[in-house]
Amino acid sequence: MTSQRKHIVCSLLLLLFITSHVTAFEVNVTQSDYNATVNHSITLEWTFPTNTSTSHDKTSIACDVIAEQKSYIVYQAVGGVEVPHTQDERFSGRVQSDTDALREGRLILHLSRLRTEDSGLYVCDVGTNHGGGSAVTQLNVTPITPLTVKVTQSSYQAEENHTITLEWAYNSTGSAFEELDVHCSHLAKPKELVLYQVYKGVERPEFVDGCFSGRVQSDTDALREGRIRLHLSRLRKNDSGQHKCAVRTCCGYGFALCDLNITAAVHRPTERPTPSPQPDTGGRTGLSIGLIAAVVLVLCVIFVIVRMKGHSDSQSVCNSRTRLFQRELQVRA
Ligand SMILES: *[C@@H]1O[C@H](CO)[C@@H](O)[C@H](O)[C@H]1NC(C)=O
Ligand SMILES: *[C@@H]1O[C@H](CO)[C@@H](O)[C@H](O)[C@H]1NC(C)=O
Ligand SMILES: *[C@@H]1O[C@H](CO)[C@@H](O)[C@H](O)[C@H]1NC(C)=O
Ligand SMILES: *[C@@H]1O[C@H](CO)[C@@H](O)[C@H](O)[C@H]1NC(C)=O
Ligand SMILES: *[C@@H]1O[C@H](CO)[C@@H](O)[C@H](O)[C@H]1NC(C)=O
Ligand SMILES: *[C@@H]1O[C@H](CO)[C@@H](O)[C@H](O)[C@H]1NC(C)=O
Ligand SMILES: *[C@@H]1O[C@H](CO)[C@@H](O)[C@H](O)[C@H]1NC(C)=O
Ligand SMILES: *[C@@H]1O[C@H](CO)[C@@H](O)[C@H](O)[C@H]1NC(C)=O
Repeated sequence: MTSQRKHIVCSLLLLLFITSHVTAFEVNVTQSDYNATVNHSITLEWTFPTNTSTSHDKTSIACDVIAEQKSYIVYQAVGGVEVPHTQDERFSGRVQSDTDALREGRLILHLSRLRTEDSGLYVCDVGTNHGGGSAVTQLNVTPITPLTVKVTQSSYQAEENHTITLEWAYNSTGSAFEELDVHCSHLAKPKELVLYQVYKGVERPEFVDGCFSGRVQSDTDALREGRIRLHLSRLRKNDSGQHKCAVRTCCGYGFALCDLNITAAVHRPTERPTPSPQPDTGGRTGLSIGLIAAVVLVLCVIFVIVRMKGHSDSQSVCNSRTRLFQRELQVRA
């Protein structure tokens, strides 16, 4: 008989001894069943009556799981002291209990890094110096299924200062909106910048990075239909790069990426309306000649005005202007 086996037998005998000499009491489960997913954690809880007149009530606990028609020790405590080495190795380092809560009549088992094989019936025996009893609860651990998240467009191109709508779609079949987590970010270097965050169906703008504050709007109606639509406004050149949206529901996780390319705004002169474009090159040449002639004319007029300033009348100015204009046309012809 190995020392571990001996210990288990001793502990059980001790527990039996404690419980057999006292009256039975009712141990209750706070939930008759628990559902969880792989890699998550869960807290199982039992309650039992305490004796308020004895301050140092020594409680002994033995919790087993019955799975695949076998029984495994999940947790043991004798006289309020944990007995970790009797625990089955499959639970090693994954079970935590609160011994202080025992004094309040609460048995709390916190199971972490859940596996599908943790599923089963959890039976806990409680023994105190004023009574004993047991209760059972069921735990179901379901595997995480990959959640399909898709981009409706894999790359987007937009101009600086414009607005763009990025869109993702996910398949939330069989999951409540209240369990939906969405995390969208710009995979910028050196750090990821959060642009949109939903936790348990509620938008959390406080997690959005400062450089996106006031620039991102989401379509919450679309979100309920499985579409993430983000309107990103006042685009900056450094918004360029990969953008990721990750979705987590009760039972799955997935993400998709899209590329955003923000190009510099094309400078458009605003001081003067652009001349209407000419359809053919012949017309354009004619226009250029006309424009040059007009400019030369204006310069000449100014020159003549300056030269004749003070000793000429308006008639001579008009003549000079006509003459100069005619000469210019001869040169061009
Ligand atoms: C756990 O899942 C089962 C089956 O889907 C359901 O009937 C039960 O109500 C769930 N329990 C809890 C506590 O959510
Ligand atoms: C669970 O966690 C482990 C380690 O963190 C990881 O390797 C594994 O892929 C996870 N499994 C699932 C289904 O998420
Ligand atoms: C256990 O449940 C029974 C019946 O619901 C109740 O009378 C009793 O007070 C409960 N005990 C504890 C310790 O919660
Ligand atoms: C509490 O403990 C005292 C002393 O051991 C005992 O006399 C009393 O009957 C106990 N009360 C209950 C409710 O068990
Ligand atoms: C969503 O997932 C379910 C179950 O995996 C599948 O039956 C259904 O066809 C999927 N719907 C879409 C739109 O992909
Ligand atoms: C992006 O550019 C804006 C100015 O256009 C600047 O304020 C901001 O800090 C830049 N963000 C990053 C992450 O470089
Ligand atoms: C962004 O778009 C411009 C203009 O079409 C292109 O020249 C450039 O290569 C693109 N950059 C990336 C990173 O795709
Ligand atoms: C973008 O908008 C800001 C503020 O409206 C303006 O100051 C800036 O000149 C604009 N940039 C370009 C390239 O148009």
